[in-house]
Amino acid sequence: MAEAEERYRRDVSRTYRGEGIVVLWEPKLCIHITNCIRHLPQVFNAGVRPWIDASAASAEEIAAAVESCPTGALSYERTDGAPGEQAGETTTVEPRTNGPLFLRGRIEVRDPSGRVLRTATRVALCRCGYSGNKPYCDLSHRAIDFKA
Ligand code: FES
Repeated sequence: MAEAEERYRRDVSRTYRGEGIVVLWEPKLCIHITNCIRHLPQVFNAGVRPWIDASAASAEEIAAAVESCPTGALSYERTDGAPGEQAGETTTVEPRTNGPLFLRGRIEVRDPSGRVLRTATRVALCRCGYSGNKPYCDLSHRAIDFKA
């Protein structure tokens, strides 16, 4: 990977390969919203290991389930030539009740010097101030019983 691209690389810890798609999971961004499990339980099942079986549905179905993840912990790469995830025209911010801010759209997370830390279509930003993984939510808001 070229050095210029290195800073955009996600901190992917796990990959799961299926027909026409590779699912990427970044555990430190996962706050267990479980949209993926509700959308496609035959692929996403927290009760078994590995918890993602990317061969259990079509690439299109898996892509749709991944895109339901509001934190960006799940993403995918198509290996069949189909287009990847497209950011919408509008970037939206949606507060979760007593929890993080869910952003969707064309997102660049930058440090105070303006350096781009992450480009994404989905992120969950901490608004309680107690995350150990700022600026992302890590569920600490539950431990402190955050009220928005
Ligand atoms: S809002 Fe979730 S850790 Fe702060």
